[in-house]
Amino acid sequence: MNKGLLISFEGTDGSGKTTQIKLLSEYMHSKGLNHITLREPGGVAISEEIRSIVLDNRYKEMDQVTEMLLYAAARAQLVSQVIQPSLASGKSVICDRFVDSSYIYQGYARGLGIELVKTVNDVATRNLMPDITFFMDIDPVLALKRRFDNSQPDRLEAEGTAFQKKVYEGYIKLAGLYPDRIKIISGIHGIDAAFSQIKSYVDVLLCR
Ligand code: TYD
Repeated sequence: MNKGLLISFEGTDGSGKTTQIKLLSEYMHSKGLNHITLREPGGVAISEEIRSIVLDNRYKEMDQVTEMLLYAAARAQLVSQVIQPSLASGKSVICDRFVDSSYIYQGYARGLGIELVKTVNDVATRNLMPDITFFMDIDPVLALKRRFDNSQPDRLEAEGTAFQKKVYEGYIKLAGLYPDRIKIISGIHGIDAAFSQIKSYVDVLLCR
């Protein structure tokens, strides 16, 4: 049996990942491809509990290392409980954020360093990496504005535009380091144009 694919979506807050994940899931469904969609932090009961702590606006005092470990803990549970068994059974997994979010938000934007975050997360993921990662490239300030028009900011979103710009800059640098895995998807030409790029990359992977 073939292993399933692990496909992750990354981007600044409000960058349109959710819409593209929905389109990809519908596309895979139409092709009869067995798959699940998950979000990080979250996806299973323990990780959703961790999510509610890590994104809670009341915890302004949260230490950066605590934050990194909480994201990693949520990920460790999701990987062992759902992602690994799914991939092993031939089911693909589409993940709204994965380990790159920690590299960028905690390692780069918070300044803990990508090396440290990678060391911790290699334990959490058992060295599992996505087969492909789509970075949704949209102006981070516009994305944040769009998000705030629709909902209240969570603890990370409340960091403001300078933080989101740093996150954006970090993703662009990371994509430059791993061009085979991380694909930059421009949001400038609209939803359909972005999805057609994503679809063509996934089609190539499915043919392997
Ligand atoms: P969420 O509401 O899911 O935001 P989005 O729809 O933009 O993905 O909140 C997740 C927040 O957590 C988001 O601000 C990014 C942040 N985050 C990290 O800082 N590190 C991580 O490892 C992950 C998975 C998310």
